[in-house]
Amino acid sequence: MSKTLREIFYETGPQDRMIHKWDHYFDIYEKYFSPYRDRPLNFLEIGINHGGSLQLWKKYFGDNIRLYAVDINPACQAFEEKDVQVTIGSQEDPTFLRSLAQTLPDMDIILDDGGHTMTQQRLTFEWLFPKLKEGGVYLIEDTHTSYWEIYGGGLKRSASFIEYCKQLVDSLHIHHLHNPAQVRSNELIRQIHSICFYDSVVAFEKRQHREPFHTRLGKEQVTPVEIKESKWLATWRKWIGKNVRSFGRNQRH
Ligand SMILES: C[S@@+](CC[C@H](N)C(=O)[O-])C[C@H]1O[C@@H](n2cnc3c(N)ncnc32)[C@H](O)[C@@H]1O
Repeated sequence: MSKTLREIFYETGPQDRMIHKWDHYFDIYEKYFSPYRDRPLNFLEIGINHGGSLQLWKKYFGDNIRLYAVDINPACQAFEEKDVQVTIGSQEDPTFLRSLAQTLPDMDIILDDGGHTMTQQRLTFEWLFPKLKEGGVYLIEDTHTSYWEIYGGGLKRSASFIEYCKQLVDSLHIHHLHNPAQVRSNELIRQIHSICFYDSVVAFEKRQHREPFHTRLGKEQVTPVEIKESKWLATWRKWIGKNVRSFGRNQRH
C-alpha cells in the first residue's frame, strides 16, 4: 500500500530540504489530494521557501505530477528541475498574477502557502481560482493569520480573508435568498461548488454552481404536527404563497 502524506513527511531526514507543516494539515491534504494520486495532474504551489514541500508532493504523487511553484525570493529559482517550473514574483502584484494566469496551464490543485497576508490571499484567489480545472481544488493554508493584526487580520475584521470567505458562503446560497442582489455574484463565485473551513485551512472545490432543485417522492405516512406560527411567520407564508421565489419553484414533480 502507498504511504500516506504524513508518513512521507515524517521520514524527512537531515539530508532533505527543510519543510515545516502543522500535523493536522495532513488529514486535510489527504482528503483532497488522494483522488489525484498516480494520475497526471498539474499542481501549483505559492510559497516555496526551502523547497521541502516540492519534494513532498513529488514523493506523494509520483512521476505523473507536473509542479508549478511561485515565490518572491529569487533564490528559489534553484529548485527548478524536471517537472518543476519555478516562477519568481509577488503574489501581491496584480500585474504578476495576471501574467501568471496567462502563461500557466489549467491546474488540478492550487495551494497558497505564500506570504499569508489578507491582500495576498484574496488577490491570489481572485486571479488564480479561474485557473482551476472544473472539479479542481484550491487550498489556502495558515488562514489563522485572519486573526492576526500584523497580517492585516483581526477577529471579524471585514478585510480579513476569513470574513471574505464568509461572504462567499452567503453567495453560495444565492438561489434561496428573497433578494439575491444582497449577495455578491460573478463568474468566479458561480464556479464555487463548496467552501470548507478547517482550523487554519480553507478549501474551495470548483464546479459550476447551477440552480438547485429538490424532489419529493413516496406517500405521506404521518400527519404533520401542527406548529403554532408567529404572526410574522403566518404573514410571511401568505406573502411567499403569492410571490414567485417560493420554495416550490425548484421542486420537480
Ligand atoms: C511558509 S513559506 C512556504 C513553505 C513551503 N510551502 C513549505 O511547505 O516548505 C512561505 C514562502 O512564501 C514566500 N512569500 C512571501 N511573500 C510572498 C509574496 N508576496 N509572493 C510570493 N511568495 C511570497 C516566502 O519567500 C516563503 O518562501
